[in-house]
Amino acid sequence: MSTEKLGLDDLVSMCKRRGFIFQSSEIYGGFAACWDYGPLGVELKNRIKELWWDAMVRRREDIVGMDGSILMHPEIWVASGHVASFHDPLVDCKACKRRFRADMIEEAKECPECGGELTEPRQFNLMFKTHIGPVEEDASIVYLRPETAQGIYVNFKNVLQTSRVKIPFGIAQIGKAFRNEITTKNFIFRTCEFEQMEMQFFIHPSEDDKWFEYWKQQRIDYYTKLGIRDAKLRFKEHGKDELAFYAKKAFDVEFEFPFGWNEIEGIHNRTDYDLKQHTEFSGKDLTYLNEETKERFIPFVIETSAGLTRQVLVALADAYDEDEAQGETRTVLRLHPAIAPVTVGVFPLVKKDGLAELARKIETELREEFTTFYDVSGAIGRRYRRQDEAGTPYGITVDYQTKDDDTVTLRFRDSMEQVRIKTGEIVTRIKEEIKNYRRA
Ligand code: GAP
Repeated sequence: MSTEKLGLDDLVSMCKRRGFIFQSSEIYGGFAACWDYGPLGVELKNRIKELWWDAMVRRREDIVGMDGSILMHPEIWVASGHVASFHDPLVDCKACKRRFRADMIEEAKECPECGGELTEPRQFNLMFKTHIGPVEEDASIVYLRPETAQGIYVNFKNVLQTSRVKIPFGIAQIGKAFRNEITTKNFIFRTCEFEQMEMQFFIHPSEDDKWFEYWKQQRIDYYTKLGIRDAKLRFKEHGKDELAFYAKKAFDVEFEFPFGWNEIEGIHNRTDYDLKQHTEFSGKDLTYLNEETKERFIPFVIETSAGLTRQVLVALADAYDEDEAQGETRTVLRLHPAIAPVTVGVFPLVKKDGLAELARKIETELREEFTTFYDVSGAIGRRYRRQDEAGTPYGITVDYQTKDDDTVTLRFRDSMEQVRIKTGEIVTRIKEEIKNYRRA
């Protein structure tokens, strides 16, 4: 069956059943718009994070990383424009009292739940406010950051002075962000607490178009490395009326979710807006001096802003599939092996006659190289199915022949084919398979 026919509900129940994602506070009846990542989900999320960090920081000379705090000086959000402008238009239903984002309901004339009359749209700030210190007064207000980007801008000078970076260069950060979202359906797509993977690339203002195009290409290529099918990805340019208050030009990378095409990442030309604002509000000089030309200027910024938790949904939605295996419907997660929570499952055909001990020994050795899962319980077909559903790309089965000639079977999740290989070849073979993986 094609993924197109599988809905979000199938995915949500598989995620719960297999321990990828649980509803937050479930035993208390759940907590809207918040989700918890279970044993497989946290592995998947961490691997995506690693892949992004590797592509954006470790493999590049021109980008450095940082990890800033969630709570920052409240003036930062005044300077950035978020206090004044980070709003969604809201309407309330006069009858059932439900609240909606005006731009998300068609025509915005009547309540989509009960048909009641709606109020005029009014602006609603998305930032969560809290207080720091023992006294709850206006002076103690702090915000939970709604984007990680500002932590980078306010550390621009620190990084410049300590890292010997020269323009063009980038600063990358992964971390939690919070928005008081009103429309939070569609599982983990839009949540109040989420994680972002952002990179701010500082450039000379005359080179903004060139770098914008460069980052558009880099970022779409990244999704291929993540194993996402090209046909499910596209760009969408923001019209003048859609641009965020800080952007001169913006493109979204969109993915075709079971509920339609939607944004997964934004590439923005933020010009010198943020550094100028922070210069003005902090009184600190955030200019850059080109040592060779002696030109001093405020850099422009090309931002790539991806949602980590949204990418988990992309990976799961693109991988989730059903097909027929031995007369039964099989659920299979065709995750790229580089992000699969478990890389190799190891199975003794039966427990007895020393096969379990032999399989355990092989699994312990493989654990040095890969994430492994040892499973001895149940019929071998069922054990394969469990790992197919968890997205485990490779399975090693130890059988009686292993005792005779030191060979095992290597099973492939996608095709269900099996080949016989020497135990000494397992590590090299699996590494090669991961490197050359192409989804059929
Ligand atoms: N710094 C720019 C910025 O934050 P954005 O378009 O508001 O831009 C960037 O957000 C990305 O962050 C989005 O493409 C999405 O992947 C993710 N994101 C934003 N709001 C989210 C939410 N409420 N839940 C999950 N992910 C979200």
